[in-house]
Amino acid sequence: MNNIILIGYMGAGKTSVGRELALLENKVFMDTDMAIEKRAGKRIRDIFALEGEAYFRDLETKILEEMLENLSDAVISAGGGLPITEKNRLLLKKLGKVIFLKVKAETVMKRLERDTTRPLLQDHNKLTKIKDMLRLRNPIYESVSDMIMETDQLGCEEIAARIRDGLTGV
Ligand code: S3P
Repeated sequence: MNNIILIGYMGAGKTSVGRELALLENKVFMDTDMAIEKRAGKRIRDIFALEGEAYFRDLETKILEEMLENLSDAVISAGGGLPITEKNRLLLKKLGKVIFLKVKAETVMKRLERDTTRPLLQDHNKLTKIKDMLRLRNPIYESVSDMIMETDQLGCEEIAARIRDGLTGV
């Protein structure tokens, strides 16, 4: 289907890298979080607060199913928790090439220290929460990915260029 999907933890750079990669590859850029916010008419943190996480996760699966019906030639940034269910992982595999943007807990901490938009990262002990979640999630991200790219040291443009080169086998 010629789609490229970026997965990984919050703060890995999926949206920024995705926009760059879409420019390089001449593809449209889509973001599952943005699609959900548009659909629900609410910000993610309000969906979590008002409807709860399970409702949000259902919306993620619905958006993914719709993308599978309608999208080709797109770069898609997937919300950090989207690959956690097996159903979503199967959908991701069908949708296109899956790239895992890997990031260290300390980098996430630096990037999202003052962020208020991610409901799962509003804990007092943020670094411990990030480390615990990465320990659980990284093997899951790896299991579904066609390519792994570490993003701690590199800028978005460089990461996008490396992904493009990796996909074309250069
Ligand atoms: C989440 C990641 C967020 C967003 C929601 C839940 C997660 O997306 O979908 O806050 O469970 O990791 P980003 O990874 O784009 O920040």
